[in-house]
Amino acid sequence: MKNYFGKDRRNFLKNGLLAGLGLSGLSFKNRPEAWQEEYERLLATPPAVGKSVIDLKVAPIKQVKVAFIGIGSRGYGQLGQFNAMYPDKAVITAICDVRKERTDLGLERLKKKGQNPAVYTGKPDAWKEMVKRDDIDLVVICTPWADHVPMAVYAMQQGKHVAIEVPAAKTLDECWKLVNTAEETQRNCMMLENCCYGDEELWILNMVQKEVFGTLTYAEAAYIHNLRDSLFNPKGYYDFWRMKENIARDGNLYPTHGLGPVAQYLDILRGDRFEHLVSMSSLEASLTEASKALPADNPYAGYKGPIRHGDMNNCLIRTNKGRTVLLQHDIVTPRPYSRINALAGTKAYHEGYPSRLSIVGKGHEFLSEADLKDYKEKYRHPIWEKLKKEIEENGGHGGMDFVMVYRLIDCLNNGRPLDMDVYDAATWSVVTPLSEMSIKAGNAPIKFPDFTRGKWAQNRALGMVKVV
Ligand SMILES: NC(=O)c1ccc[n+]([C@@H]2O[C@H](COP(=O)([O-])OP(=O)(O)OC[C@H]3O[C@@H](n4cnc5c(N)ncnc54)[C@H](O)[C@@H]3O)[C@@H](O)[C@H]2O)c1
Repeated sequence: MKNYFGKDRRNFLKNGLLAGLGLSGLSFKNRPEAWQEEYERLLATPPAVGKSVIDLKVAPIKQVKVAFIGIGSRGYGQLGQFNAMYPDKAVITAICDVRKERTDLGLERLKKKGQNPAVYTGKPDAWKEMVKRDDIDLVVICTPWADHVPMAVYAMQQGKHVAIEVPAAKTLDECWKLVNTAEETQRNCMMLENCCYGDEELWILNMVQKEVFGTLTYAEAAYIHNLRDSLFNPKGYYDFWRMKENIARDGNLYPTHGLGPVAQYLDILRGDRFEHLVSMSSLEASLTEASKALPADNPYAGYKGPIRHGDMNNCLIRTNKGRTVLLQHDIVTPRPYSRINALAGTKAYHEGYPSRLSIVGKGHEFLSEADLKDYKEKYRHPIWEKLKKEIEENGGHGGMDFVMVYRLIDCLNNGRPLDMDVYDAATWSVVTPLSEMSIKAGNAPIKFPDFTRGKWAQNRALGMVKVV
């Protein structure tokens, strides 16, 4: 296997990398062999314990029986989307949140539509009893990141399909656990990457498929969202879980909103794959400074740190076909929201926020409003036309949440493979631990594991591409 560190890895590690680590005082300084151990582990593909779940088909489920874990800010919103599937396509049979006030809120919402799920609450492992029930087909997980994988693995082991909020997993081991458990149990494990279902994203995907972009060369994506106030808000994230993530880790902690759609444009795991990344963070300053202005009774008032996550994290990813992706993560700078959503090809270029398109041979500017409108209408993804009325009624991040939940349930209703599988979930989520490793190793290149165990090169079409 080609070694990014040159022919003699040992010498590189000893002389080059370790010197770098010594100079910059990074985390492997005191035990340099730790980096090598991590690197060896990273490259190793664990033995398969089941068979591939690529294009997994399960028997059609006429009315999908759904259980929910986590009815916080996101879970409550998602509950609304699944509620919209009742009674024709799905029913919610059980809900769980450690906090009773949240299950009360969820129950009230569901009852208004005539649903009456069983309720599990009051202790951190109440969800375990719930997922053992035999009236559940699909478990939806909307809890803090650290709970995603233990909950998903256990649910699959109980014979349930799982849909996990983003990112699916926090560590490399967790990514493999998801893949191996899905393969062993032959259950679906989908990450709920709603941004893949946006009107703009599906329009671009449609144009890519219709070859408007020509040969794709690079993309830029991000999660840039000023969450400062929510991070510090005692009524925001449960037990300040997201603030604690920023304190504990430096890397791209939330890669999938930007990366998911881009991976689909680039046919990642469907003919191309991410080969390696390098990652670099800026200094941390915003949260530390903002903490000084917090009221004295806030646990983070005048926080002395350290906060490990730099204000901006940049990753550069290179694919097997030689394409590049710049991926950014910044949730603290006072700047407008953006996922960038830039895609470059030999015949066209798109940039989001706001959406703009330029086309070869049509000047050096972006298209005029009128020309852009023509492209939007001509290449709009058919599902956005088909579900127009329901999207207006149910919304959810401009409608993308509804389209995603509709597709997930509709595929299960009809026994079709899901649009996104466990390999997508693992490949997009693994950016977090790989970026952490790259930073710890002085911004070294880190290889992506191949969660498909060689099947990435097959040219299989995305489910959304087949929708007409
Ligand atoms: N796709 C999106 O657009 C989007 C948007 C926001 C959040 N998210 C994701 O959704 C997830 C939840 O985020 P959030 O903003 O709703 O956080 P939150 O803190 O508002 O909600 C988490 C909920 O989980 C509950 N919980 C915690 N431990 C539990 C346990 N052991 N058993 C049962 N319930 C438990 C908490 O009580 C809380 O209600 C995260 O993974 C986040 O990244 C996705």
